[in-house]
Amino acid sequence: MSPFPFLVLLIITLFSSFGDSLKVPFRVNDLLPVLPPGISWPVLNNLHSAVDLLPSFVGSVTPYNGSIEWKGACFFDNQAKLEFTDGDRNGSGFGGAILYLKTEEAHSWTCMDLYVFATPYRVTWDYYFSAREHTLKLDSWEEPAELEYVKQHGISVFLMPAGMLGTLLSLVDVLPLFSNTAWGQKSNLEFLKKHMGATFERRIQPWRATIDPADVHSGDFLAVSKIRGRWGGFETLEKWVTGAFAGHTAVCLKDDMGNLWVGESGHENEKVTSVMSMWTRMQPAYAANMWNEALNKRLGTEDLDLHDILLETEKRGITFDELLAIPEQDDWEYSDGKSTTCVAFILSMYKEAGIFGPISSSIQVTEFTIRDAYMLRIFEDNQTRLPRWCQNENDRLPFCQILGEYRMEFPGYNTLDPYANMNEHCPSLPPTYDRPSQC
Ligand SMILES: *[C@@H]1O[C@H](CO)[C@@H](O)[C@H](O)[C@H]1NC(C)=O
Ligand SMILES: *[C@@H]1O[C@H](CO)[C@@H](O)[C@H](O)[C@H]1NC(C)=O
Ligand SMILES: *[C@@H]1O[C@H](CO)[C@@H](O)[C@H](O)[C@H]1NC(C)=O
Repeated sequence: MSPFPFLVLLIITLFSSFGDSLKVPFRVNDLLPVLPPGISWPVLNNLHSAVDLLPSFVGSVTPYNGSIEWKGACFFDNQAKLEFTDGDRNGSGFGGAILYLKTEEAHSWTCMDLYVFATPYRVTWDYYFSAREHTLKLDSWEEPAELEYVKQHGISVFLMPAGMLGTLLSLVDVLPLFSNTAWGQKSNLEFLKKHMGATFERRIQPWRATIDPADVHSGDFLAVSKIRGRWGGFETLEKWVTGAFAGHTAVCLKDDMGNLWVGESGHENEKVTSVMSMWTRMQPAYAANMWNEALNKRLGTEDLDLHDILLETEKRGITFDELLAIPEQDDWEYSDGKSTTCVAFILSMYKEAGIFGPISSSIQVTEFTIRDAYMLRIFEDNQTRLPRWCQNENDRLPFCQILGEYRMEFPGYNTLDPYANMNEHCPSLPPTYDRPSQC
């Protein structure tokens, strides 16, 4: 007998045990890594939606304000506090910090919690299997501004749902993505090739086009992709979650004088912007959980935390998935003003400009991912009308590539006519990102 029926049976058995309240001390998610992908993928797709991959902001730990406490995915009782260490280290004079993180009450023996710790200047991560006090040493601040930032805002702690990340990506796959080295770059390329089917064809020189600003117009769409560096790993994961082959977008604008500007969804702190654009609404600079806010908006409630949101959802007889599926309305105001992702910013500009014509009022730009944006059939489709400088003979791309060692690829680019309420009910999950028509 082949091992298949047995494995399927195993899953079903575990499911039912899980269902009638924890007779086994582990959950099916904990076991997924040992199952073949052909089975674990469908299981995961049924258990989770892509948003489970987004880290949730648990709080900011500041050095002078005691500790923060929260409930994790694996450990139900967690606490963190931060202490500065002396500034007498060689080279830098600013010192560093130690983060003390206490994990208690694991819900099973096999689970773990994966955390990301971020300041606008660094991203680091750690994962915990055991219940005890862990320490994370931050050797020295990058620059005085980082020290200032941490004094005021603290270090942001994000919890990654490990049942998902820890298992399905398998740590071996994910952790190197954050390394700012050639090895890190290679890991990002390999991850995107393996999990998204990206090809990364090397381009022939020149890798940099010489732009004639006269050919660039207001509204021209810029797609940016980063495969290395501090944020490269985040971009890679976000690409994987959303199916987009670009990690950031911006738009060209020309003023009356003919000066060319690049507009991005803005924030006063450029480094924070890069975090924001990656994790859409998770904003470390604010001690607010935007994710909860988004769910509160959907429920029409205010200031409920995730736990209460789940209770409220249950009370109303809808599932969490149904709650998530409620489309976001463009006029919802968040505590940081309107919550705008990089691409929603551009699309709202297009919307104002009338690109969506008569269906404008039924386009919710906040429902669009970067992928949804570049799939729209609103771009120049006649290659001969593209400027001369972007006709790199070797690439023959339907768009202009300005920079890069690898050929940009955008599957489905410029193919989808806009329609009313588009993208409001699209599942679009990795690894196939199937997009039912008219979703
Ligand atoms: C410290 O914590 C208290 C209550 O938890 C809060 O009201 C206050 O704003 C915090 N101060 C800073 C500087 O974060
Ligand atoms: C500082 O540098 C000196 C000499 O380079 C070395 O012996 C010492 O261990 C260093 N101290 C620290 C804290 O790194
Ligand atoms: C593409 O543009 C050129 C120049 O404007 C024009 O001559 C040609 O007919 C266009 N081709 C198509 C298929 O529209």
